Amino acid sequence: MPGLEDATRGRLLFGGDYNPEQWPPEVWAEDVRLMREAGVNLVTVGVFAWAALQPEPGRFTFGWLDTVLGLLDEGGIGVALATPTASPPPWLGHRHPDTLPQGPDGVRRLYGSRNQYCPSAPAYRRAARVVSDALAARYAHHPALRMWHIGNEYGTACHCDHCAQRFRGWLSRRYGDLDGLNAAWGTAVWSQRYGDWAEVLPPRRMQYVGNPLQDLDYQRFVSDVLLECFTAERDAVRAHNPAVPITTNFMDFYRHTDGWRWAAAEDFVSLDTYPDPNDPDAAMRAAMSKDVMRSLGGGRPWLLMEQSPGAASWRPVATPKRPGLNRLWSMQAVARGADGVLHFQWRASRQGAERAHGAMVPHAGHDSRVFREICALGRELAELSGMPGVPGVLGAGVPADVAIVLDWDAWRAVELDHQPHHGFRYVDRLTEYYAPLWRANVTCDFARADGPLGGYRLVLVPNLYQVSAAAAANLTAYVQAGGTLVMGPFSGVADPGERVFTGGWPGPWQDLLGVRVEEHWPLPDGERLDVASAELGDFAAATWAEWTEARGAQVVARIRGGTLDGRPAVLRHRYGTGTAWYVATLPEPEALRRLLDRVCADAAVRPVLPGLPPGVEAVRRGDRIFLLHHDDGRVELR
Ligand code: GLA
Repeated sequence: MPGLEDATRGRLLFGGDYNPEQWPPEVWAEDVRLMREAGVNLVTVGVFAWAALQPEPGRFTFGWLDTVLGLLDEGGIGVALATPTASPPPWLGHRHPDTLPQGPDGVRRLYGSRNQYCPSAPAYRRAARVVSDALAARYAHHPALRMWHIGNEYGTACHCDHCAQRFRGWLSRRYGDLDGLNAAWGTAVWSQRYGDWAEVLPPRRMQYVGNPLQDLDYQRFVSDVLLECFTAERDAVRAHNPAVPITTNFMDFYRHTDGWRWAAAEDFVSLDTYPDPNDPDAAMRAAMSKDVMRSLGGGRPWLLMEQSPGAASWRPVATPKRPGLNRLWSMQAVARGADGVLHFQWRASRQGAERAHGAMVPHAGHDSRVFREICALGRELAELSGMPGVPGVLGAGVPADVAIVLDWDAWRAVELDHQPHHGFRYVDRLTEYYAPLWRANVTCDFARADGPLGGYRLVLVPNLYQVSAAAAANLTAYVQAGGTLVMGPFSGVADPGERVFTGGWPGPWQDLLGVRVEEHWPLPDGERLDVASAELGDFAAATWAEWTEARGAQVVARIRGGTLDGRPAVLRHRYGTGTAWYVATLPEPEALRRLLDRVCADAAVRPVLPGLPPGVEAVRRGDRIFLLHHDDGRVELR
């Protein structure tokens, strides 16, 4: 199987999305000249070029792309060639209105924007295959081709009749027959029993709240049906040259597509990330997405496919990145395992929806701060690829002693309708645990709940509401064998069929944790819980509490006052040769920091470098330690 190393060929990749179809040919030669000046060695071409490549069914116009790829090749610039299927031309929707996606409200989304496709529509599937196949037939052996970029940011959910049909097939494979479906979906509730497959629908607009497993299964189906589109195009291009690696671009935490399943279908993982320069926590959040990408790829190098060199025009307030910030966040990607840094986009669009978006060559032109910074970054990345006598970072791994469990099913399920607290958001829970470790310069991987954990000193499960039998056994075995585990609240509540565990929670982990939860106790906004702890120091908690009872665990912190007075809030339990902690509430950040400090010390988890000033991030990659200063002003390191 090819990998990212087949595209990097000894150099960190540097460049961006290149949309030459928006420009007259005179500009192309200047583009290549400026790309060379900037040290660009890879551009992503063709992402939105379907109409330019196939102006009508059966007629292809490859001449312009021949010229562009030829110019790039002469300039020594590689190409990530995209199948253009994220944005079908108007002729497809006009001739085949059933290729246009339908919302849960039954309304079709028309062309005139992008992403207007139904992943189940046979006419879309056919057309996508035809254009991908034609592209690959022509360019699969082109000397500039370094990788295939399939589609773009998969994520369109459609609720039309084609999808209904495919959803029924998906359900019948999962549940066998209608009896199986009725049992799984609990259709005895509210008289929902289905007597004919034709009655079974995607979740559409309903009179009141829908069946939770119908909703969850549809989310699973959407991820799978989009993955079918990806794999069909992947296989179409691969057939022409199996040596070219294939990827598609993920977004920061995105619920629609199950990252574990998708990453397994790619040759390497890519990320599009747009942290908000106005968010004081942007660097932490960005680090977290990057660690997810490395983890999805099993620790192998990944590619930063898109970031903006300036502003992201879809933001309500599109403040550009201040001087130096693009360099800093690019280095953060390399430090956290990326073997390339690309941008959206090369040259700023003069027209169209993204005319206010940042670009490597901004509207001001090459005589600009942004382009000068791009050139400096290009030089620096070339140096990092490996100076003689100095080990490079290319291909090197990022060691981590801590894993945070990330699970798409649990994420989707905990955010279904009519959960006890509508503000309980999965990614917030992960972030609360990630943030203090990032600030302490403890590197974290993300891991599957049912995947290998033995190599980690510490496993964090900030929340795992829904849990499979395999995941339950896996985490138990991890602690049994000597691991340290911290589990957050509202975990172990339901199985993958969204059936609630009976007999107390966390269902399968009561023995492991030495605790039994009888009731979940969400708190209204503004209510503060007082928690007393000699070991951790007293602290406040909010949003969530539980009616807990210690069943063998040592109580580390107890609620003080109110209805839950005296109930354990933090517990620690020796199990096998390991230790399992249960945190039955959401402690204030400072308290969670103290708790994780304590746990890290016990589990012998150490920072990359101790004692760094606040705002300085340290990450080890291969033989190097990257030090990234995120705050203003100067710091001195001794
Ligand atoms: C996404 C898309 C790009 C572009 C950028 C703008 O990442 O993949 O085509 O629209 O957003 O931020």
